[in-house]
Amino acid sequence: MHSRASNRGSFIAHPPPRGYRSRLEDRQQAQRALVECDALMCGYCTPGFVMSLTALFTAKQNPTLEEIKKACSGNLCRCGTYPHIFKAAQRVAEAGPSKS
Ligand code: FES
Repeated sequence: MHSRASNRGSFIAHPPPRGYRSRLEDRQQAQRALVECDALMCGYCTPGFVMSLTALFTAKQNPTLEEIKKACSGNLCRCGTYPHIFKAAQRVAEAGPSKS
């Protein structure tokens, strides 16, 4: 829930904007899978991969490996964890839409 100050100075709860929750869940799924698949060494590239994968999974729940690679093509990992990153992305793709 988001909150916003009311005109009396207290905070009132508002539901998240339409579509926000699913993007948040897609991001959380991508983050969790990257950690579980040991897809980061120094972690410098990780935020970029998380953002790319989040956008991909928001647009398409079950992308192919080729679509995953294309979506991540603007990110470079100097540590060379690509096999783990793609494995994590495939894990999310195979899991399908989040259930919450
Ligand atoms: S984990 Fe180090 S650059 Fe990707």
